[in-house]
Amino acid sequence: MKDLSVGDVPVIVAPMAGGPSTPALVTAAAAAGALGFLAAGYKTVENLAGEIEAVRDSTENFGVNVFVPDDTPVDRGAVKRFRDRLRPEAERYGVELPEIRWDDDDHWADKLSLLMAAPVPWVSFAFGVPDRATIRGLQRAGSHVLVTVTEPFESEQAFDAGADGVIAQSGSAGGHSSTTNPVLYRSDTTTLDLIPRIRSRVPLPVVAAGGVASREDLDAVLGTRAFAVQIGTHFLKAIEAGTRPTHREAMGDPRFAETVVTRAFTGRPARSLRNRFTDTFSDSAPLGYPAIHHLTAPIRAAAAAMGDPHGINLWAGAGFGYAREGTTAEILAGLIGS
Ligand SMILES: Cc1cc2nc3c(=O)[nH]c(=O)nc-3n(C[C@H](O)[C@H](O)[C@H](O)COP(=O)(O)O)c2cc1C
Repeated sequence: MKDLSVGDVPVIVAPMAGGPSTPALVTAAAAAGALGFLAAGYKTVENLAGEIEAVRDSTENFGVNVFVPDDTPVDRGAVKRFRDRLRPEAERYGVELPEIRWDDDDHWADKLSLLMAAPVPWVSFAFGVPDRATIRGLQRAGSHVLVTVTEPFESEQAFDAGADGVIAQSGSAGGHSSTTNPVLYRSDTTTLDLIPRIRSRVPLPVVAAGGVASREDLDAVLGTRAFAVQIGTHFLKAIEAGTRPTHREAMGDPRFAETVVTRAFTGRPARSLRNRFTDTFSDSAPLGYPAIHHLTAPIRAAAAAMGDPHGINLWAGAGFGYAREGTTAEILAGLIGS
């Protein structure tokens, strides 16, 4: 088993697509001794390349996270019916619902070509397990490759595909689950329960992810011999993060007191603060990523422009109540107790 280490501090500031991850967040993480990841998700290749160059100017230790195209079978009729249910919501925000897009792979091949041609020290994957040739190619180019998993069977797939390590993401994590089987996905797993189940199946270094919000949490998960802890929600209010103001404010607003796991925004399970949108659509939203992500995008953009927290995906993990404003260095110091 390879010995992996992420930096002076065993913390990965999680990749957070959709705005929060910025080059400034990644370089601030590195300056504070942790490891930051750029989030390639939803970006064009040109934007990703620009972010990589911006980070490379300030640090040599960083990573890039890529979404593996989601091959979950989709009931197209159910997605079309869900589009009809979204009509009143589109009217509420004064937007047109787009035609359904079935074919978006988030520029998978071009993002991989970029990472092979201009390698970065770390590459992690979400939503799936890439094939052996892809992982081998990145390793030959000089990258450590981590695959995000939510159950032991996915860690076995990552092992068979040659990954250097896995990120064990529990159900308490904020944002999308990386599950490769959203039909069977369980959102009640905890990091402490998941890691031993993975360890008993594969001899791979493990990063723990999900619900770490205090020094005690950090010590507990490092006690499972995880070589690092990936933390997202706790950094959403960092000044270097690109989190929308409405999202930041909702995280301290007593009206948003709990999180739910919902497919309502994107068609994949994701943990979010509970709001009017999740209450209205969580029961009826089918699986259908990325079609539903594109369908709800104009609604979410209009709600964000109006500053309405009830129409946007307020991704947050179960420990969101502990997140505080501050610099990345201050937030990290608060977590590691220095
Ligand atoms: C706003 C937000 C966006 C996220 N986007 C990504 C992403 O693009 N790629 C990824 O692998 N994980 C993503 N995650 C999940 C994190 O990598 C990590 O698993 C999670 O934040 C850990 O749980 P925590 O939020 O309780 O710290 C996201 C999480 C949040 C809160």
